Amino acid sequence: MNVPLRNRSQLLRLSALAIALPAALYTLPSNAAPEKARSGKVVVETVCAGCHETGKDGAPKIGDQAEWSKRASVGLGVITRNAITGVRKMPAHGGNAALSDLEVSRAVAYMVSGGKAIDPDKPYSSPNQIAGGNLVKARCSECHTAGKDGAPKIGHMEDWKPRLKNGVDGLVSSAISGHNAMPARAGMANLSDADLRAAVIFMAVQPKPLAK
Ligand code: HEC
Ligand code: HEC
Repeated sequence: MNVPLRNRSQLLRLSALAIALPAALYTLPSNAAPEKARSGKVVVETVCAGCHETGKDGAPKIGDQAEWSKRASVGLGVITRNAITGVRKMPAHGGNAALSDLEVSRAVAYMVSGGKAIDPDKPYSSPNQIAGGNLVKARCSECHTAGKDGAPKIGHMEDWKPRLKNGVDGLVSSAISGHNAMPARAGMANLSDADLRAAVIFMAVQPKPLAK
């Protein structure tokens, strides 16, 4: 193929990007459990017991198997999703946005089984409720368009590349727990891990700033 030099270097740059980016984004399995994921027992004792020990505001009590079985009859997946997004007086992520969906799902399994559930080996896959691009436009772009307080800018590969060196999972966990001026779960405690993940990937791959 006889490509003019200028186009060839563009082509090379593009194909280097095309190889480097997906590699960085997909080196780790998509729902890999962060290594530090806490067990259901630990999460229940440190976070959920505050309400579920005493049944505060009508929280199903730990050990009340009849009540848990009734709740779980709609499916463990449904009540886990409710624990992630929050339902009535049950706060999203048990009021601790830095808990991953996997940790919440382990805690639910622990309470539903009366402490008998051993932590699932297979990673929990969070429900996707909002498309990455929509979430970015509705929320993330507020800081990530102009780079407010040092936020990596959408459409600026050079801002994202060094951050991607630990793979996309590192970025997702850091967006979950928040750091510096980046609020935990972007300040939306009811976002699932899957939604955050989709938004992170959407931002990291934009070749240019989003159209207004
Ligand atoms: C601030 C109090 C509070 C904390 C902390 C809390 N919960 Fe709850 N939870 C509630 C209340 C109240 C309900 C009952 C909501 C309802 O059905 O009206 C509830 C209900 C639930 C349900 C049943 C949801 C359904 O659809 O029936 C699950 C599952 C649950 N909580 C999981 C958890 C987990 C896991 C944690 C810890 C990570 C946690 N909760 C921490 C208050 C709390
Ligand atoms: C209130 C402003 C603000 C909002 C809203 C916001 N971010 Fe951020 N974000 C920041 C700032 C500031 C940083 C840079 C923090 C640092 O590294 O010092 C950042 C960094 C990040 C990083 C890089 C983390 C790392 O470890 O390098 C990711 C990923 C991220 N944000 C994802 C998101 C997603 C996804 C959304 C929307 C759901 C979002 N952010 C919404 C301010 C925001």
